[in-house]
Amino acid sequence: MASRTAFRLTRAAAPLLSTSRAGQKAIPAAARAFNSSSVRMKSDVVRETEVPVSVYAPDSKGGASSSDHFSIPVSRENAKPTPIPTAENEDVHPLNQKVFNTMTPTMQKMTVMDKVVIITGGARGLGNHMARACAEAGAKALIIFDANQELGDESAAELHQKTGLPVTFFKVDVRDGAAINAAVDSVVQLYGAPDVLVNSAGIADSNIKAETYDPAMFRRLIDINLTGSFLMSQAVGRAMMAAGKPGSIVLVASMSGSIVNYPQEQSCYNASKAGVIQFGKSLAAEWAKYNIRVNCISPGYMDTALNRVPALEAQKKIWKSMTPQNRLGAVDDLNGLCVFLASDSSAFMTGANVIIDGGYTCY
Ligand SMILES: NC(=O)c1ccc[n+]([C@@H]2O[C@H](COP(=O)([O-])OP(=O)(O)OC[C@H]3O[C@@H](n4cnc5c(N)ncnc54)[C@H](O)[C@@H]3O)[C@@H](O)[C@H]2O)c1
Repeated sequence: MASRTAFRLTRAAAPLLSTSRAGQKAIPAAARAFNSSSVRMKSDVVRETEVPVSVYAPDSKGGASSSDHFSIPVSRENAKPTPIPTAENEDVHPLNQKVFNTMTPTMQKMTVMDKVVIITGGARGLGNHMARACAEAGAKALIIFDANQELGDESAAELHQKTGLPVTFFKVDVRDGAAINAAVDSVVQLYGAPDVLVNSAGIADSNIKAETYDPAMFRRLIDINLTGSFLMSQAVGRAMMAAGKPGSIVLVASMSGSIVNYPQEQSCYNASKAGVIQFGKSLAAEWAKYNIRVNCISPGYMDTALNRVPALEAQKKIWKSMTPQNRLGAVDDLNGLCVFLASDSSAFMTGANVIIDGGYTCY
């Protein structure tokens, strides 16, 4: 292995090698350039007192372009962090064709205009807010799969009433492959093959020591979080393949799939989400040939019902203190990333796992 690597390096580096004088080792040109510039950077400590600014814009009445040149002073006092507004806006504003037509090509690509979107766990929490975001980003139809009959029905009715879009709720448990297949077939008949799956259904167990973990509970969680991701992806992926349609699958994993949370012990949840991430990567590699992309969103601690449990209140203080932004994520903090991954603007992105955690995993 070592000799194979050395061979590859020698071959690859050969064109970059500078001519060596007798007795001196040849230095790759790229490495030499890097060294010389880093030496210069060390001696040049830049501490400007002013920043020159050039502005090119139409004049204030929207007339002919003009230019302006000025400088802004540089303050070296510690900058105060700006508080981040977390207030929720409960209105949902669907994107219509007329507005879409006025958008620039870049912004059009960032929408899910005319796409059929299935969201599991869409009855509440993160899934419900990602469904709202897809409505605001132009979805043609929204389909919620959730095990909670009452909440699912209510949230579908509310989303339809707020947007006028067709919103259909299927009471489906993501562990039930046959029910999922029947529901996906029905979606195809109603709206055509799905373009997007957002798999947000999931549960959490925490503060359970591995040595006392009930194996039945362990199996149940793996079944919902991991097997559920598989069953949903398989059914939706097959429908996309049958229609010859490109598609995007977004699996909601967790930062717990990459780190071990502290202080609570939750080996099963962490293992389930690590499984989702590796499953997503594997699927991305297998299904690229069908133009189906698969990416994971890995949230940090989010302020949802999943965490609004009295037993977790004390631990939340610790979680915040370990998060550079010193807060839990708002329930709509995944929306932009979800739409981006669902949209064609992420066309070259597959097999990625995007951690969105207020900086938790920096430490
Ligand atoms: N809240 C967090 O801090 C956090 C952090 C990282 C990852 N996540 C993940 O995000 C996803 C959504 O979490 P949330 O905070 O919105 O939770 P939530 O409990 O508010 O919502 C989860 C939804 O999934 C549904 N659901 C649960 N089990 C199901 C099943 N077997 N079949 C179908 N639907 C089922 C529930 O009815 C609910 O509507 C989960 O996968 C969770 O693991 C959450």
